[in-house]
Amino acid sequence: MNLQEELLRILYGENLYVTAAVVFLGTLALLWLKSCWDMRNAVPLDVSAACGDITPEELAKFDGRDPFKPIYFSVQGRVFDVTAGRDFYGPDGGYAIFAGKEVARALAVMSLKAEDCTADLAGVTPKQLDTLGEWVAKFEKKYKVVGKVVEPKRLTLEELACYNGTETGKPIYLAIRGVVFDVTSGKDFYGPEGIYPFAGHECARAFALLSTDTADCHNNLEGLGAMERDNLRDWEAKFRYKYPIVGSVVPAKA
Ligand SMILES: *[C@@H]1O[C@H](CO)[C@@H](O)[C@H](O)[C@H]1NC(C)=O
Repeated sequence: MNLQEELLRILYGENLYVTAAVVFLGTLALLWLKSCWDMRNAVPLDVSAACGDITPEELAKFDGRDPFKPIYFSVQGRVFDVTAGRDFYGPDGGYAIFAGKEVARALAVMSLKAEDCTADLAGVTPKQLDTLGEWVAKFEKKYKVVGKVVEPKRLTLEELACYNGTETGKPIYLAIRGVVFDVTSGKDFYGPEGIYPFAGHECARAFALLSTDTADCHNNLEGLGAMERDNLRDWEAKFRYKYPIVGSVVPAKA
């Protein structure tokens, strides 16, 4: 018999095992009560947020398939947060096709076809324009306008370098395989005080090699091994999820 057991025996006499069982069951009961309490005090899944300027590619991410992101669509470039209408616009809704898209034409001609999800109103009749106006009035009553759709930026590497985080108030960008991400919300990592020297750079190779050497900040993927390609894919997926895409890298002007 070890000391601990002996002490318990002295304290609780022959009822040691009964006591142990009571303590065990009591702990379970407490855990159960705590989980009930947690559930009652759960934070509702409030994902609504302003998006500001947003590219069509970025808008497409807000199609309701990710429960942690709001649902958006745009009408003539004005972005509505329709998360509260998840029953209509969520993945199982009758209007799911609208989520993450520009829908002006579809509303005007009352279509649920993907090809009508565009801002192009060519050939739309005055009556159909009225229909569109009625929809917009309805949306304005029910939902918030949270941003506007903008053209994707086209930056040369030289222009990208100016988004390096040194100028306060200017966003911080980096590129992975030519796709430009706004990483301003990750300032602690990518800003001047951050541990990653990637701001303003194309970083594909650096991410593949898990390197923080700016000499590896370029888009040449020659000779990468399978694991390195996986690294790059993982980082890219993470960035696509976490940071807005604002445009792409274009060749320097001749
Ligand atoms: C960083 O960006 C600023 C402008 O925001 C620019 O003046 C400066 O040259 C950039 N630094 C480098 C190393 O590119």
